[in-house]
Amino acid sequence: MAVDPETILHIQELKEKHNAVIIAHNYQPPEIQDIADLLGDSLALATEAIKLDADVIIFCGVNFMAETAKILSPEKKVIHPEPKSRCPMAAMITPDALRQMKARHPDAVVVSYVNTTADVKAETDICCTSGNAVKVIKSIPEKKIIFTPDKNLGMYIQRFVPEKEIMCWDGFCGTHQNKITVPRLRSLKEQHPGAEVIVHPECTPDVIDFADKVFSTYGMLVHAKTSETNTFIMGTEKEMCYRLSQDVPEKTFIPVAEAVCQNMKKITLKKVIASLENLEPEINLPMDILEKARIPLERMVNIGRGK
Ligand code: 13P
Ligand code: SF4
Repeated sequence: MAVDPETILHIQELKEKHNAVIIAHNYQPPEIQDIADLLGDSLALATEAIKLDADVIIFCGVNFMAETAKILSPEKKVIHPEPKSRCPMAAMITPDALRQMKARHPDAVVVSYVNTTADVKAETDICCTSGNAVKVIKSIPEKKIIFTPDKNLGMYIQRFVPEKEIMCWDGFCGTHQNKITVPRLRSLKEQHPGAEVIVHPECTPDVIDFADKVFSTYGMLVHAKTSETNTFIMGTEKEMCYRLSQDVPEKTFIPVAEAVCQNMKKITLKKVIASLENLEPEINLPMDILEKARIPLERMVNIGRGK
């Protein structure tokens, strides 16, 4: 349902009053996507937030994304409308456990997916997103890599860098690992035989093998626009199909209906408006964590987007 014009006007007035912008991840509910000034994948949201000429960022996504914006733009007030919106995969690793693994492999470089908490990033050498993971790993001269926390993304990257020894943390995204399966994709393919199957690299290796293409959410958008195919089965969080249908309305995007990230849906229009009115809850991080976590994130931003 489209956001009503009165609400849009109210949001606009509040944004002007506070010099605020609303940024949102591609998995946000449709009404949040509709009011966002900037919509993107985790890499775009991290890099573009730095360039925004705004005093306040209302960050609509899960907690690590809002933290990343704060770490890279510490002078801005970053507001996360629902602090309980957290990525369960990011909670699968703690700084203590990572320190223990580092002690066991002192010659390894630590690469952490951006889906980690700030204190885990503070123990990391370089971050990556699914949009630049291969490029980040290729930039590292060392052979041994500790990759946290997503084992599926780690195994996917390993296919492109056989010369590296990637030790994967045992983390995963439940939405991608458990809800997007080969039988589910096969049944959608039977219903839509001409469709291309596109999946996110957080999916399991058998799903990756079954798919026609593997992309980050940014890559999915680029591919949908440029491909000659008209129908796509989307093996990722289902709201990506809303994003795609807005940007590429002439094509058809079929979701895996069960693939829902409940945490992304904890951000609601009501909470966003309350955040704009009160400028809270604000992301605040201890200064030492903020400074340590900025180093691997800046390295990632400097590498930019890969394939
Ligand atoms: P993207 O970086 O591809 O947008 O993915 C983020 C994410 O959390 C996927 O589950
Ligand atoms: Fe985390 Fe998965 Fe949700 Fe992405 S889709 S935010 S990885 S739980």
